[in-house]
Amino acid sequence: MPDRLDENKILKNIEKLGSKCVSRLVFFDETESTNSVAKRLAREGAPDCTVVAARRQSAGRGRLGRSFLSEEGGIYLSYIIRPDCEFSSALKITAGAAVAVMRAVKSYCDNVLIKWVNDVYINGKKVCGILSEASPDAENGVGFIVVGVGVNVFGSAKDFGDELSDIVTTIEENSKKDIDINELFAKIIFELNGVYKSLGNFKSVISQYRENSLVIGKKVYITEGGKSEAVKVIDVDESGALVVCDEFSKMRKISGGEVSLRVAKRKRDGFSAN
Ligand code: BTN
Repeated sequence: MPDRLDENKILKNIEKLGSKCVSRLVFFDETESTNSVAKRLAREGAPDCTVVAARRQSAGRGRLGRSFLSEEGGIYLSYIIRPDCEFSSALKITAGAAVAVMRAVKSYCDNVLIKWVNDVYINGKKVCGILSEASPDAENGVGFIVVGVGVNVFGSAKDFGDELSDIVTTIEENSKKDIDINELFAKIIFELNGVYKSLGNFKSVISQYRENSLVIGKKVYITEGGKSEAVKVIDVDESGALVVCDEFSKMRKISGGEVSLRVAKRKRDGFSAN
């Protein structure tokens, strides 16, 4: 029987990492959505580096208004940060959060890559989704950012039902080691804090993002406002925006927002740019 997420064990593991990456941990057996709780706490003045965590979520939320299946056996956490930067820099933390989770997951598995903006994949299947929600302050700086991370840890893809079983995976399915879920949780927070503290000098974070990108050099479909288009991904810039080339060889940048991206699988799935 694998270990359960446990408030005291999380705190002990964080202490072991010797970092002040958590100011307060708010822990639930079950809640609707840790992001919703974290946003409420942030509005009420919760300090920088507050963590909200749950063993299960009854209404987990994903990007683009989707739901996020959150049964026990995964990690569901929200990290409240209050960076001193312009609101437009918020995409950086979105991309950086994926680097943080990737680093933590790599201590258990190989072949861990990032799919823009911030999904983490193992062997081509999604193991983690991240939902960052930012709120501006009065001067158009960042009031707070809630970085919500959901990781499939135990169990198998089949547990996610017919619709998802071909596209998701879990750490357990890909790891040869025994998984300590409380240790993994602490590592994720430790890495998120590391990325947060490097916001002023993001070069090395973005280079890791690029080196571990699932999409750079690939043909993908981007969908925005109901319109889908095949493009080739050229790069990810310093701000975390995607640099793409369209079928007319025109380059442009795409920032987060309401954009979804699907990697073209078959030859006929894309246009012929190379
Ligand atoms: C996605 O894949 O679209 C993003 C999923 C983000 C899920 C996490 S789980 C913890 C936090 N609370 C939520 O309701 N969502 C995020």
